Amino acid sequence: METDQSSSQTDDAPRLAPLVLRGVVFDPPLFCAPMAAITHSAFRRLLAGFGGYGALFTEMLSSRMILREDLERSPCLKRRPGEGKLIYQLMASDTVRLPEIIERLSPLRPDGLDLNAACAAFPAVRQGCGSDLFHDAPRLREVLRVMRRSFAGPLTVKIRLGRQDEGWRGQLEERLDLIAGEGADALTVHPRFFEEKFKRSARHDLYGELAQKARLPIIASGDIRGPEDLREHAAHLAPAAGVMIGRMAAACPWVFARWKNPGLRVDHLAVWRQLCDYIAEDFDAAKALARLKVIAPYFARNFLFGHTFFKAAQGAPDLATARRRTEDFLAAGPTLVKSVSVGGI
Ligand SMILES: Cc1cc2nc3c(=O)[nH]c(=O)nc-3n(C[C@H](O)[C@H](O)[C@H](O)COP(=O)(O)O)c2cc1C
Repeated sequence: METDQSSSQTDDAPRLAPLVLRGVVFDPPLFCAPMAAITHSAFRRLLAGFGGYGALFTEMLSSRMILREDLERSPCLKRRPGEGKLIYQLMASDTVRLPEIIERLSPLRPDGLDLNAACAAFPAVRQGCGSDLFHDAPRLREVLRVMRRSFAGPLTVKIRLGRQDEGWRGQLEERLDLIAGEGADALTVHPRFFEEKFKRSARHDLYGELAQKARLPIIASGDIRGPEDLREHAAHLAPAAGVMIGRMAAACPWVFARWKNPGLRVDHLAVWRQLCDYIAEDFDAAKALARLKVIAPYFARNFLFGHTFFKAAQGAPDLATARRRTEDFLAAGPTLVKSVSVGGI
């Protein structure tokens, strides 16, 4: 996956029709993907400064966190007015306390709720969430039914293709049927199998077939760098009603703004400083350092010797050192790569 860093690109970005779900307009239908430890309030604040998206997603939120944390202060839950539309992603394994969990979020006025049936990482699966929920149709049905009953706004579900075995297509069709039948309004599909993680390429060629079978608008997720992919893979991506970008947004938080304004110039040092300031404002020092370390490998992809930037963050014992080392790297005017790639991370 690569995206062109040059600011002289003049091709018009493909126009995308607004996506309207239960009266909520997502215009453009460009979404920042839910990403654990990345799409917290500080990162969303940074994206908001650039704009260009239709909505942001929170990272996956556990029931325990929603019930326990202070809505006004939690860096995962709180939202700032400037953020625009925000969809809260739930990690649910069953319906226990689910109406209460959804009710607790209501003061935050979510612009949508999303159910994570996509994550195959051990912490989610161990709790019966993500891919584990995808595989258990009765439980998935129950969870969706309760979410639909408890929330009047847009309800979306995020999935992968399933497990890579002979029966995957049949199982996927059953799930699409189930999800539409329980009243979801849209479906995000990351067309890889659970066990693939980020290996191989996302199978964009499946969107046509999935959009037909799903009877729901499909949001395409996986290996989409920017408008160039919509141009290059128009035939495969055209059936999608929306586009979601994850890792490329972590590397280039201006990706949505540049979609509209290809000439946008970026001061990498200023962006990084801003992000560090925002993270330091929302998190205590230890957590702030951990969050910087998570995003540094993505931001590093902008530079020819990005591993130096990445190591400067990874090896730092505290936040001040991480900031000093990474800012020194950026202040020296590092050479930018021509095309940013987030392949392999
Ligand atoms: C660091 C990281 C954290 C992620 N966390 C979540 C998550 O909390 N919920 C989820 O549904 N997907 C999660 N994903 C998957 C993304 O939402 C997205 O579907 C995937 O990265 C493919 O899109 P991309 O190629 O644009 O990155 C995560 C991905 C990454 C790289």
